[in-house]
Amino acid sequence: MQRVLSGIQPSGRLHIGNYFGMMLPMIRHMEHADLYVFIVDLHALTSVQDRGRLRQGTLEAAADFLALGLDPDRCTFWVQSDVPEVCELAWLLSVVTPMGLLERSHSYKDKVARNIPASHGLFSYPVLMAADILLYQPDLVPVGKDQKQHIEVTRDIAMRFNNTFGETFRIPDGEINENAAVIPGLDGQKMSKSYDNTIPIFAEEKELRKKVMAIQTDATPVEAPKNPDTCNLYGLLKLFASHEKMQEVHGLYVNGGAAYGYLKQDLLALINERFAPARARKKELLDNPDYLRQILAKGADKARAKASQTLDLVRDRVGIKY
Ligand code: TRP
Repeated sequence: MQRVLSGIQPSGRLHIGNYFGMMLPMIRHMEHADLYVFIVDLHALTSVQDRGRLRQGTLEAAADFLALGLDPDRCTFWVQSDVPEVCELAWLLSVVTPMGLLERSHSYKDKVARNIPASHGLFSYPVLMAADILLYQPDLVPVGKDQKQHIEVTRDIAMRFNNTFGETFRIPDGEINENAAVIPGLDGQKMSKSYDNTIPIFAEEKELRKKVMAIQTDATPVEAPKNPDTCNLYGLLKLFASHEKMQEVHGLYVNGGAAYGYLKQDLLALINERFAPARARKKELLDNPDYLRQILAKGADKARAKASQTLDLVRDRVGIKY
């Protein structure tokens, strides 16, 4: 069975870009793969340095995934820091990681360009991510387009390690979800926490309404034909509406008659329909954090069994098992 692994940061409220880009594909992989899903709290520390926010974010991300249908009995689901082996592996990988590889990192350069202080943690973020991945020897790592370079860095580090110390790591493939990149935000740019243009999955009805009504549209009159391909409202509707409904909406765009106000109402109803049951489940889970912690502890035990196997081999390869 193919092993599929991916992680998500608990650094903000998850939004429908995260949902279609990573969470839903991962939940689908549960059907046929040996699935590993984890919440990367150690990575989040590069940006969230507030104890309360990190703790809450971690529990919420766990509740989000479970509420949306991830079944902890059919996959391995844990919090990154509960398997500290990952930090040791990150160090062992760092000794074969060329500086230049990290210096070329887009995500590091972008953050520095946005005046985010350049900590060592931010710089070595890709090494910890490589450790996250290689520790579990997966075949496939589904990620959004923005993580493509991190997967390349992981593969590069794994090959260098294998060349230096002998065959140790499986070289994983990335599964780049091109779809995730085209999920438009409220303003038409890519939906992203950093652009403040997201629709949170678990927003309450009132907030959700406000967000949907704030989707930016142009000033074309109702009866005028419109281009669906450049309309972010259309792009969002397409994610939720049935094929038949979209054929009808497409007709209205092309021939005239599409009223943005009505379409927003449709979108709102569809988002509600899709997420209302998950919203209720999430609330139940968060009301019972000890139950959540129990699930995560069980997941960490499962993950650790695999992690310690790999780390044992790695320690032997490099010669620290003497
Ligand atoms: N860097 C990823 C992101 O921000 C999160 C991440 C950390 C991850 N470790 C990972 C993703 C391992 C996949 C595999 O989205």
